[in-house]
Amino acid sequence: MGNIATVTMNPTVDLFAETERLVEDGKSRCHNVTREPGGGGINVARNLHRFGMDVVAILTAGGLQGELLKRILQREMLTFHCVDIQDETRQSLALTEKASARLFHLVFPGPELQESEWQRCIDAFDALKPKPDYLVLSGSLPGGVPTHFYVTLACSATAAGTRVILDTSGKALTGSHGKCIYLTKLNFGEFAELGYSGPREHSSILTAMAKVIDQGLTENLIVTLDADGALLASGAGEKLHARPPETRVISHVGAGDSFVSVLVHQLDSGKSIAEAFRYGVAAAAAKVSTPGNQLMDLERVESIAKMVKIHQHA
Ligand SMILES: Nc1ncnc2c1ncn2[C@@H]1O[C@H](COP(=O)(O)OP(=O)(O)O)[C@@H](O)[C@H]1O
Ligand SMILES: [Mg+2]
Repeated sequence: MGNIATVTMNPTVDLFAETERLVEDGKSRCHNVTREPGGGGINVARNLHRFGMDVVAILTAGGLQGELLKRILQREMLTFHCVDIQDETRQSLALTEKASARLFHLVFPGPELQESEWQRCIDAFDALKPKPDYLVLSGSLPGGVPTHFYVTLACSATAAGTRVILDTSGKALTGSHGKCIYLTKLNFGEFAELGYSGPREHSSILTAMAKVIDQGLTENLIVTLDADGALLASGAGEKLHARPPETRVISHVGAGDSFVSVLVHQLDSGKSIAEAFRYGVAAAAAKVSTPGNQLMDLERVESIAKMVKIHQHA
């Protein structure tokens, strides 16, 4: 098993809770309260750690929430490198209203980083020895971090022989060039930020995705489409749609991160991009049908993967 690094610039402490009915102008008593570390790269690192992979999470942490985040991560025995920051780490609340089975995901503002702080995150990656086989850059960038941050880090990692996987907003790809990013995963809204305003038809989106690859912004590109699964345009010219079986949705939290976790796990065990893609779609479907932000059951992913339908586009 190769080793993996993840970077989370804007982590969270995620509070999960349930309430019978959300009350207006009154108290909504909550139960089944759990607290988990969150943020794209941390979710991916925790999943991969549970799959038995050698993973290090680079993250920022500040203030009381930052201390809490570090404590929880220590308890999980996850290897992490923390860049301490002045401002406070953010929090989020995922509240399920039992009566309606609706989930409300409240994400509070993140910190404002100073230049020296985000620079230290790049230094933390540069200091890793040996260099990881994969680097996962995932999640939003907090205030003060320039849009080019991920591309800058990706180019440095790629030059060191690491494959970079990016999961964030489309804007982060601006300025990407050459073969700095091995694979980018965006949801449809994030992809639209790159200028796509065409129809939601698969063939039209895939054509636009192939153009992004031709422009050299990323070697391979995945765009996710919620219940409709996901599209893959690969550097080798494949254009695929993967549709998951119909799934009962419990919680979207961490679904994109579960996609990326299983994708990396598959790539690392030598699978093709198309096969890893199928497993990613299965992993997201497995996650949306369970609470919390982690992917617990790899066997379920395996059985869903067999039900994922792949359609090849010309
Ligand atoms: N009803 C559903 N059935 C199966 N998969 C779903 C469903 N809804 C969402 N997904 C999958 O969950 C994942 C959500 O991740 P993503 O698109 O990155 O969104 P976000 O960035 O909000 O996490 C996607 O892979 C999507 O296809
Ligand atoms: Mg996402």
